[in-house]
Amino acid sequence: MAVLIVNASPRAPRSNSKRYGEIFSEYCQEETVYFPLSKTNHEKICEQMEQFSKMVIVFPLYADGLPVTLLHFLKTLEQNPPSQKPVVSVLINCGFFEPRQNDIAVSMLELFCKRHGYPFGAVLKIGSGEAILDTPFQFFLKRKMKKFAAAVTSGKNRTFSVTMPIFKSVFLKASTNYWIAYGKKNGVTPEQMDTMLIEGK
Ligand SMILES: Cc1cc2nc3c(=O)[nH]c(=O)nc-3n(C[C@H](O)[C@H](O)[C@H](O)COP(=O)(O)O)c2cc1C
Repeated sequence: MAVLIVNASPRAPRSNSKRYGEIFSEYCQEETVYFPLSKTNHEKICEQMEQFSKMVIVFPLYADGLPVTLLHFLKTLEQNPPSQKPVVSVLINCGFFEPRQNDIAVSMLELFCKRHGYPFGAVLKIGSGEAILDTPFQFFLKRKMKKFAAAVTSGKNRTFSVTMPIFKSVFLKASTNYWIAYGKKNGVTPEQMDTMLIEGK
């Protein structure tokens, strides 16, 4: 039976989550079916879910929690539960260096699963998720993805994590330079980025 992949990134079509979902599909021994969440397809995905015994939710960490796209989907799922509930696995990435930044968001999903009777499957927590895929360190990611995919297909409740194998200070320096250059390209100074006014930009 195929594995359902739901991409719950608010920027699903051009998201890192999409790339992580593709790598998962490459390593998954079973067929995968991919659905990016849109504003209008939540009920359709809930309906389709009956046909799958396993589901992977791939999403980014937003403000130490779940992005609102995923919260909306979970609300729809609460109201439209499938008669057969799949094992839910979690593939989460965050911008910060430490994979443990994702822990609270994983607990939130685990609680949802517990309350609504979905068996909880495997977890892969990715730190430096915005960067790792475009560095030679993607090898480390792929190695963990392979293990995660094996746990998903065998229905095992195992947790994996991965980040770039560098010192945190090196990561901080490189990422700060990256975002300053990115801001400059878009006419935003580091001082502006340091204020809440950036929200209105
Ligand atoms: C609104 C917003 C909030 C975010 N909050 C966090 C956070 O709390 N911790 C963190 O490590 N990364 C945070 N990030 C970074 C994202 O998790 C990271 O960029 C991720 O790779 C985005 O994945 P996506 O392209 O699949 O959406 C945030 C990004 C955005 C846009």
